Amino acid sequence: MKQIIKPINKPFSDIVGDVVRHNPSINELDVSRIYTDKDISVYNDDCMKAFKYLPDNSVDFIATDPPYFIDGMGDDWNDKALNKKKTKAGAVGGLPIGMKFDPMQGKRLYKFFYKVSQEFMRILKPGGFMVSFSQGRLFHRLALACEDAGFEIRDMLIWEHSGGQGKAFTHNHFVQKMGISYVEKQKIIDKLRNRKTPQLRPKFEPIVLAQKPKDGTFVNNWLKWRTGLVNIDFDEGQQTTIFRYNKPKKAKNISHMTVKPVPLLERLIEIFTVEGQTVLDPFLGSGTTGVATIKQHRKFIGFEIEKKYFQISVDRLKSYEENI
Ligand SMILES: C[S@@+](CC[C@H](N)C(=O)[O-])C[C@H]1O[C@@H](n2cnc3c(N)ncnc32)[C@H](O)[C@@H]1O
Repeated sequence: MKQIIKPINKPFSDIVGDVVRHNPSINELDVSRIYTDKDISVYNDDCMKAFKYLPDNSVDFIATDPPYFIDGMGDDWNDKALNKKKTKAGAVGGLPIGMKFDPMQGKRLYKFFYKVSQEFMRILKPGGFMVSFSQGRLFHRLALACEDAGFEIRDMLIWEHSGGQGKAFTHNHFVQKMGISYVEKQKIIDKLRNRKTPQLRPKFEPIVLAQKPKDGTFVNNWLKWRTGLVNIDFDEGQQTTIFRYNKPKKAKNISHMTVKPVPLLERLIEIFTVEGQTVLDPFLGSGTTGVATIKQHRKFIGFEIEKKYFQISVDRLKSYEENI
């Protein structure tokens, strides 16, 4: 059976293709944390460290889904802490992930993603595109971070899905705890009937579409770099800014909280790249972008900070390859 992902046992520079060139600092790497062959390289590392292995103007497209900066899913992303929060959800005083409103979340996301975007600007080829998933209340911070780092914001794309869990709740349990009589409590509860916290049931995720400034005109840029123009004509018609794909079904071997649908990533890859080009996802999670990239016959580079998720990605990529 063909296995294209394996731990490296040769110097990195002997294995990777022309696109990812050897960088002297690669020797410092712990090789057990990299799985690679000519076309796919995934690293178990903090992307802010791993970016340095990628040369300037070497990647054709970035498709990513960064930490959302809600309730522990930030630059302090830590699997144990998140699981602790998950088990607290529902308990008195504990809010399920995603419900806590904290105005600092957006500011922290901006700071984090600004630094990430500066690396994207260096690594992407001129005219290259970057798409990043986000969420309604933090999209603006993400878009601003890209723009301030030098990207042109081209659009907002929408991933429309079947709908997430409704998170709005009533305040009845707070009223029950008030030091007033039963009758008074009932009066307040009646007054607040049908009034919930301001969270409509989510039905989409916004995606930032950003472009690194072109090298000359669209035509010149394409002739020199093969980036900057898109393919939007498909059998079922022109792709609009709305992408309708169901949320992926839960799978035992893919235990991650924010798994995206492979067909959606495949479509984005088809739009923004041509066969053989290189796609980067520095926030691999369960490896969805990698799977989509293999299916679309492009090269892939991925980073994931958490060992557990990194292993899920590697297993998923391996088993995908074994099954085709
Ligand atoms: C929103 S999830 C990505 C989910 C992915 N799209 C999927 O379909 O499975 C973000 C991932 O980024 C990882 N992460 C967070 N900070 C990171 C960092 N500094 N470098 C690399 N990975 C990081 C988290 O561990 C998490 O798995």
